Amino acid sequence: MSLSSQIPRSCLQRLTGYASRSNGFTAVRTASRPMLRLLHESHSPLKTSVASLEQSGLESSFSFQEFTFLQNLVKTSPFFLHPSQPKAEEFNFPLGTTFKAPTREIGLDMKNTFAQALKEYGIIAIELGFDDSKSQFMLEIVEAMGCTPDTHSSTQGALWDVTYRPSGVISEKTGGNVVSISQGLGEFAWHTDGCFEVSPQRYFGLHILHPDKLGGGIFRLLAIDDLVKRLSPASIETLLNYEFELQVPPEFYKGSATTRHKLLSIEPDTGRYLIRYRRDILADPPSDDPIANAAVMELNAVLDGEGSVGQTFSKDIFKENSILLMDNARFLHCRTEIKDPKRFLRRVRFNGTPGGHA
Ligand SMILES: [Fe+2]
Repeated sequence: MSLSSQIPRSCLQRLTGYASRSNGFTAVRTASRPMLRLLHESHSPLKTSVASLEQSGLESSFSFQEFTFLQNLVKTSPFFLHPSQPKAEEFNFPLGTTFKAPTREIGLDMKNTFAQALKEYGIIAIELGFDDSKSQFMLEIVEAMGCTPDTHSSTQGALWDVTYRPSGVISEKTGGNVVSISQGLGEFAWHTDGCFEVSPQRYFGLHILHPDKLGGGIFRLLAIDDLVKRLSPASIETLLNYEFELQVPPEFYKGSATTRHKLLSIEPDTGRYLIRYRRDILADPPSDDPIANAAVMELNAVLDGEGSVGQTFSKDIFKENSILLMDNARFLHCRTEIKDPKRFLRRVRFNGTPGGHA
């Protein structure tokens, strides 16, 4: 029996928006935006049930049976990666946020699927089934999702090599070579990328070309919601309102040595907390205001606290020729000291709304 004959016709139509397509796997690959919204928003912590989707006006005619079918299709589709059950310290990817792109063409076809998952959850993983040693697919998919890659500094392009490079890069500020933390072997403490920028790049992507095979360079992430719930209401209020001076690292110099910004904010259209943070570019003490300094101390204490905060990625996810795309304002990230000097990630930072405004 062919796959298409196993799929209710009405469901396929709803899934794809392309009534002429007859293959359910193709349906998932080229799924329409409403379908993905249904799948992901039903899993969102902001939504508690399929019924609540009706209240939101999303695909209210979707039946529970169709929704269950959709979940099962995702679970069996060859275009979704099905990682093994994560260990306690590992990040648990929501259903429908880990993918396989067996070819470049199929990967680009899946742009809406990627975009919707990234917008909803702030993180996706894509396992590439083709060689892309120059990370061009990562750039292409960012643009295909309607987003805009940013340059890393006035002397570097959109792609940045995160690898051991003791010679560094040329700084526009000094004219000499400077080595960023990302191109050294040391630990890189909790931070968001580009937090010193006037408008930090909202997203970043990592193409893992060579993971650390000696047990170092462990990448961790911490969801902003997990951080905020460990802070006192007074500190949250302070971090939402006080502007701190941030030093621009010389390798990222674009004309200003310092900028001033609040560390926490609330996204107007979603009500989500957003963060910009990197301890080593704050002054010491962070400000002239004892209340503001106490809030930063509390934040640092949470990040340094007993029992490490955040999660790592499983080896099913953080592996050679996989891509991670993440919301740089909804997650902090860090990495442990590198042991394998061949560790090599390629990074892109980008702005925009994945998939455009719904
Ligand atoms: Fe980073």
